[in-house]
Amino acid sequence: MKIAVSGKGGVGKTTVSANLAKLFAQKGYNVYAVDADPDSSLGLALGIDETELSKIKPIIDMRDDISKIAGDGAMYTLNPAVNDLADKFSINIDGIKFLRMGGIKQGGSDCYCKENTFLKAIVNSLLLDTNDVVILDMGAGIEHLTRGTSKGVDLMIIVTEPGKSSVQTARIVENLAKDLMVKDIKFIANKVRTPKEEEFIKVNFKPEELLGVIHYDEVISEKSMGIIENSLQIDNQEIKKILNKIVC
Ligand SMILES: Nc1ncnc2c1ncn2[C@@H]1O[C@H](COP(=O)(O)OP(=O)(O)OP(=O)(O)O)[C@@H](O)[C@H]1O
Ligand SMILES: [Mg+2]
Repeated sequence: MKIAVSGKGGVGKTTVSANLAKLFAQKGYNVYAVDADPDSSLGLALGIDETELSKIKPIIDMRDDISKIAGDGAMYTLNPAVNDLADKFSINIDGIKFLRMGGIKQGGSDCYCKENTFLKAIVNSLLLDTNDVVILDMGAGIEHLTRGTSKGVDLMIIVTEPGKSSVQTARIVENLAKDLMVKDIKFIANKVRTPKEEEFIKVNFKPEELLGVIHYDEVISEKSMGIIENSLQIDNQEIKKILNKIVC
């Protein structure tokens, strides 16, 4: 199963992605957790040590490795054995293969065609060639997906907070995903605190669109501050219940 997670900044994409990866891993699946958001902290959320994490170069910045594999000519054809590359560049954490993509590079003085093509080829291979579970933690721009690769995505989860701008972004992402013909698109409302906020979510999303509501949780917040250590354990029962609907 291939799942992409998107939504406005700070809504809880990484929290949902990390918990999904943990749940699939616990159930014995081979899982790739892919950090496809340049600002993402998926590694931290999975419990990778900060120093170790700082040593992992995003794939987009592995220019030399990319040249070795993809060739260095101006008119390169990118046909490396991409299948094995996801494994080569991933690091293993509690049975989850973590990959740090880096962002698609835009314009500038340098030409990043090769890097971008390489990155997309890896996403392509993960989404279309493997039978494993792939969780893509994406930003609100879903530029790592293309019309070709998006058909490999079984489910796009769009996370939203109770707030107009967050819902607006969620709907924009939904339209982008629809344009890309993503098969299934669902929403999760996160960090809901009050009955009024719950009502706001109900007004803005049809029941069939909503996978569930996650209330504000001090434990999640304390984990992100490092007060509580991250582990494979999923402490939040609402998250567990919602994600169990997906992981069978
Ligand atoms: N239900 C929740 N209750 C309390 N805090 C939460 C909850 N969900 C997420 N958080 C906290 O909110 C912050 C943002 O969450 P997270 O990093 O998962 O969001 P994101 O959408 O991935 O953000 P970014 O756009 O920066 O990548 C984190 O500190 C996280 O621990
Ligand atoms: Mg994130």
